[in-house]
Amino acid sequence: MNLKGKDYIETQDWTKAEIEHLLDLADKLKDDFKNGRPTPLLPNQTAFLLFFDKSTRTRNAFEAGATQLAAHAHFLDSSATQISHGETPKDTGIILGSMGHGICIRHDLIPGAGNSYMREVADATDVPVINMQCDIDHPTQTLADLQTIREIFGKNLKGRKIVVSWAFAPSYAKPLSVPQGLITLMPRFGLDVTLVHPPEYKLMPKCMEDARNNAKEAGTKFELTDDMDAAFEGADILYPKSWGAFDLMSQRLELKTQKQLADNEAACLELNAKYKSWICDERRMKLAKKEAVYMHCLPADRGNEVTDAVIDGPQSVVFPEAENRLHTAKAIMASVMRERPF
Ligand code: CP
Repeated sequence: MNLKGKDYIETQDWTKAEIEHLLDLADKLKDDFKNGRPTPLLPNQTAFLLFFDKSTRTRNAFEAGATQLAAHAHFLDSSATQISHGETPKDTGIILGSMGHGICIRHDLIPGAGNSYMREVADATDVPVINMQCDIDHPTQTLADLQTIREIFGKNLKGRKIVVSWAFAPSYAKPLSVPQGLITLMPRFGLDVTLVHPPEYKLMPKCMEDARNNAKEAGTKFELTDDMDAAFEGADILYPKSWGAFDLMSQRLELKTQKQLADNEAACLELNAKYKSWICDERRMKLAKKEAVYMHCLPADRGNEVTDAVIDGPQSVVFPEAENRLHTAKAIMASVMRERPF
């Protein structure tokens, strides 16, 4: 399968067979990594990593992954570039594309901004653009999640139930892209999805529509509720995490000053605080199947989204899940980046 030059912006843009290819390659690269076999698949290539937000896992998966593929990942903090003086996505795309072999972008905190920024960059360059998290999807995270789920439950996931649940967090208004990425991707791979959240925490209408259509096409279930306990019942996979209220976060597109943005963040956190009881604890874990696993993309707000007993307990798979960010990032880069035709 030749995926060279293909952008990886949303899993919705990729066929199931193409995603299967990435998963198989990630499994192989993981085995190579564990057994000390070198994988110099991208010699002398450069991946630019452009961040509009903070990161631990994603940045390090891409930087370490590029090194392990014999490439170089070049970190760019958007605030230290001319983007902060208004340089356009088109100009940035043309310039970075002329100097390297891939452009990876994280732009996730403003609904309506990140995905469209990435697509403008992609339109301006022939090198592939990889989404390291936007306002709509976090497709490198959900690929790692799917790799982890298949390692635990096998490739036939038919009849297995994943619960994508809102959870309380006081730290910051987290992007919507992880739950949105999960509800759209997982039904395509056989999982029944239950989405549960308080009324103010609706996801983007287009993602809900994609999730419904994907489930229908795959013959899987997509259900929505506001009862966290009821949702947990009979689940195989629990994925409780926080996200910000869409209606409030959407206002950011029009906000100009740091003070306005800080006030918006405070309003998001004030609303979150209405739902402090939305925590994944040992009582709730018992509502799911005995062999159910706890997942989280991390960072988790310990003591708020989840208790230490759960995240450090025997059902938690968060650390293997985080490690799989490396193997899947390598599979994506190795599949889409290519030698430049000089
Ligand atoms: N899960 C995830 O994307 O982690 P980082 O924000 O640390 O990259």
